[in-house]
Amino acid sequence: MTELPVHRPFFEDKAELLAEVLGRYPEYGRRSALMPLLWEVQRAERHVSEARLEEIAAIVGVTATEVKGVMSFYSTYHEHPVGRYHLQVCRTLSCALAGGDELYAHLCERTGLVNGETDGEGRFSIQNVECLGSCGTAPVLQVNDAYFERVTRSQVDALLEAMRRDELPEPTRERGGDNAGPEKAERAEGGAA
Ligand code: FES
Repeated sequence: MTELPVHRPFFEDKAELLAEVLGRYPEYGRRSALMPLLWEVQRAERHVSEARLEEIAAIVGVTATEVKGVMSFYSTYHEHPVGRYHLQVCRTLSCALAGGDELYAHLCERTGLVNGETDGEGRFSIQNVECLGSCGTAPVLQVNDAYFERVTRSQVDALLEAMRRDELPEPTRERGGDNAGPEKAERAEGGAA
């Protein structure tokens, strides 16, 4: 008889991490931990499965339907596994005006993928997303957590080649980081002193 695989709860052996995330919020605001917990699973498994979202729902005290509602609102979360390199191209106005649509088409042509697809070996997936909050440096390509700004088609080709060798070049900005980058920030601090 074939035994069905048993999936251990994601946070079963991550008590410290779970306590750290829950500890950021008061007991009455436990549902606020929903998104960071989703992110922990998403980052580790490249998607949030039904079993995982039910586990998180139980932890924060909401229904699985509510968790799905949050997941469907944010493009960050995926119900199915994305590639090791998840390519997201902004399609909102500033990027569109700066060639974002052409960039997206180029990427689709080079990878043979369209929006929402992951390739057979699980290397690349593509997603057309809304504003990534970097409109001043359009067009923007986000690869996993890394931003590549004012990116050109030839840079995209070089990036794809590097990722096929499993080498991701230095991003021009980390998500949530300073657009100027650490070196410029240091120079600015030095100049202000
Ligand atoms: S419009 Fe593309 S980052 Fe805002």
